[in-house]
Amino acid sequence: MLKTRHTVHFKDSRDLSILPDRSVDLIVTSPPYPMIEMWDEVFSGLNPEIGEALRSQDGRKAYLLMHDELNTVWNGFPRILKPGAWVCINIGDATRTVGKKFQLYSNQSKIVETFFRLGFDCLPMVLWRKQTNAPNKFMGSGMLPAGAYVTLEHEYILIFRYGDKRSFATEAETKKRQQSSFFWEERNTWFSDLWDFKGTRQPLHHGDVRERSGAFPFELAHRLINMYSVLGDTVLDPFLGTGTTMLASAASCRNSIGFEIDPGLGRIVSEGIQGIREAANQVISIRLNEHVASMNDYTEKKGGTKHTNVPYGFPVVTSQETELVLPYLETIDSASTGAFEVTYDENPEIRPVRAFQPSQGEPKQEGQLALL
Ligand SMILES: C[S@@+](CC[C@H](N)C(=O)[O-])C[C@H]1O[C@@H](n2cnc3c(N)ncnc32)[C@H](O)[C@@H]1O
Repeated sequence: MLKTRHTVHFKDSRDLSILPDRSVDLIVTSPPYPMIEMWDEVFSGLNPEIGEALRSQDGRKAYLLMHDELNTVWNGFPRILKPGAWVCINIGDATRTVGKKFQLYSNQSKIVETFFRLGFDCLPMVLWRKQTNAPNKFMGSGMLPAGAYVTLEHEYILIFRYGDKRSFATEAETKKRQQSSFFWEERNTWFSDLWDFKGTRQPLHHGDVRERSGAFPFELAHRLINMYSVLGDTVLDPFLGTGTTMLASAASCRNSIGFEIDPGLGRIVSEGIQGIREAANQVISIRLNEHVASMNDYTEKKGGTKHTNVPYGFPVVTSQETELVLPYLETIDSASTGAFEVTYDENPEIRPVRAFQPSQGEPKQEGQLALL
């Protein structure tokens, strides 16, 4: 029976020593962003010198000290990653006035430099376009040269690989990889270097909860997991927050591990888990139904495809998609304190897409699936 396990550690990820060597296939994460005010308190908690630097208006010192704390987490990655594993980091740069000086604090360049030093290969990155309509978005001297500043309207998804290309040596590994393929039409969107999630479905926790916790969209984690891992892999998020990476892993039939320093987020993560079966199955139905619609369109324009997917019997554009399966979630059960297990329905079927209702998690039954 297909089964995945998901474990949350309410611990500081600057110490990853509880994870065995070479145990992780993919890391998908978003750290607190250095020099973005909402994270000042978290960074000052990690190192009080950061708070002192900010109070004395020394932006450069604060920025460097904040990256020192993130570096402690990054330094732990080479030991735990399997050969050929991937790391995807969502990060935004910061613009800020400290000590009367407005400047850019480039977080992405600092992290790229660190991963290069750690021996990772840096691959082309994605720009996540986050356009703002705020009336005060233009900063500086207005219409007068030469003192106005370009508005920051994007974040990055940095992509690194550790070691040589992953090998799929055995027949079983090759089969797993083929079953984990994505659709040709998804490849065309997912592997573009510009992402825009405007209008994409957010099946779990929406609005205020996500804003306050700096959560990334479900779609972001879901894409990366499907792009850079295979069914049954283990995905780590060392800055778990509301648990988006964990939920997207469960939805994609991957195991996951999360570290989160703030135990106050336990309730939100638990609520997400309560609602994940319904939300994930909806995402799976949408993928399958959208594929069928896309192939109808393709067939009309091009007169059919050369290949057929074996489990579902629908047309696919390439031979690489012929074994693709998207297993629906069947049961969610707590496995131990801080861990839950998901089982999957192995019968390939296409369920209808139901009217979309963003979920805040189903009503919680006391004691069930609580993470703390
Ligand atoms: C940008 S948020 C992550 C949001 C997450 N991607 C989501 O979708 O909800 C960063 C998270 O890292 C946590 N954090 C900060 N320092 C940490 C540390 N040293 N160890 C573990 N978690 C930490 C913060 O409490 C915060 O929840």
